[in-house]
Amino acid sequence: MSHLLMCPPDYFGIEYEINPWMRLSNQSNPDRARAQWRHLTQVLQNETGAKLEFMTPIPGLPDLVFTANAGAVHDGTAVPSRFRYPERQQEEQHFMEWFTQHGYDVIPLDQGMFFEGAGDLLGFPDCWVGGYRQRSDIRAYDRLSEIFRNRILAVELVDQRFYHLDTCFCPLSGGELLYYPPAFDAYAQTVIASQVAPEQRFAVPPLEADRFACNAVCVDRHVILPTGCPETIAWVTAHGYTSHPVELDEFLKAGGSAKCLTLTLD
Ligand code: ARG
Repeated sequence: MSHLLMCPPDYFGIEYEINPWMRLSNQSNPDRARAQWRHLTQVLQNETGAKLEFMTPIPGLPDLVFTANAGAVHDGTAVPSRFRYPERQQEEQHFMEWFTQHGYDVIPLDQGMFFEGAGDLLGFPDCWVGGYRQRSDIRAYDRLSEIFRNRILAVELVDQRFYHLDTCFCPLSGGELLYYPPAFDAYAQTVIASQVAPEQRFAVPPLEADRFACNAVCVDRHVILPTGCPETIAWVTAHGYTSHPVELDEFLKAGGSAKCLTLTLD
């Protein structure tokens, strides 16, 4: 069973601009955000049977909802994030506390070694992929592969709109991949292509990449993704998945969507 960490959007809002999606002039609507987030939790629980854990929201930390950025978790070990921007650094202690209180073996990275958790570290069981340049530091992946004893391919993210790996790269449970190639440098595109057979990967069209189609949550044969992504839905359906579109446009104003709002704990 899939086990996910989420944080209610009680204090979610656009209070600073640290990615091109965030504009102070484009505020989120708190009621709509709450309703969209609640809908996401219902789909996860009722349609996929995922078990959800909830963090306590904290006033003044509007991005704490994006629990994908809490850290990297594997086999009972958690490496908490070290955020690049001061605006999010206050979150570190709360994520660290949550992992400690829930019995994880917590291994912190050195100060200044930026790493933004599962937002930048994803992958397939035998091959993990780490995004760097925009937020996480490439050096973090040497340390993380040591800690988790797993191979990590570091890939460079070149488009500021796709600043976390999970905004442009989504491995599915059956080994397939949804991704947006232009978000990666040419070499990373080659590396990714060498890992996943052509018929197993779907290059999401630009308009759907802009809707954050790649910021999908895959639980077994279910794919929960933002609304407005018909071509992505057609592809996953043809590959045997059931799609569940959820309207999450309030969170897109902060540069996030379904996947960012969850952290896989298994
Ligand atoms: N406003 C947040 C930031 O810029 C959004 C984080 C989205 N999280 C993610 N895993 N992509 O840091």
